[in-house]
Amino acid sequence: MERTFIMLKPDAIQRRLTGKIITRLEERGLKIVAAKMLQITRELAMEHYQEHKNKPFFNNLIDYITSAPVLALVIEGENSIKLTRKIVGATNPQEADPGTIRGDFALHTGRNIIHASDSPKSAEREIKLFFNEDEIYDYTMPD
Ligand code: CMP
Repeated sequence: MERTFIMLKPDAIQRRLTGKIITRLEERGLKIVAAKMLQITRELAMEHYQEHKNKPFFNNLIDYITSAPVLALVIEGENSIKLTRKIVGATNPQEADPGTIRGDFALHTGRNIIHASDSPKSAEREIKLFFNEDEIYDYTMPD
């Protein structure tokens, strides 16, 4: 079963949106197999967002993501990487369709409330950055 990495960013926590966001993922049939609340260090933030290190918004992004706790999740399900990206919506909330998480709860790219891995390679890398294998659970769902 495919795994992906999701992070509810500081503004999702501060705005008390965690329940609503997680409900959307669970109601779609996705399964939470790991969860951790943490305040990200600048070192971890820079590692996580390494592909953006030369972008003009990089420093703001690091300030934002380290400003308050986040909720890191590993989500499992068939085709979970593409599916969560669809449920999350476009990076720029102005372009995110209504009905998506960003399209319903966010206004600005710099405060877009949630991160979802964009490929199998990113998912594997990001899951490893935030979780040890023994923090990821294997359990069955009742029918
Ligand atoms: P995320 O999906 O976590 O991946 C990279 C993040 O960089 C993105 O969400 C935004 O939070 C941030 N980002 C991308 N483009 C911009 C931009 N033009 N200005 C500010 N932040 C950006």
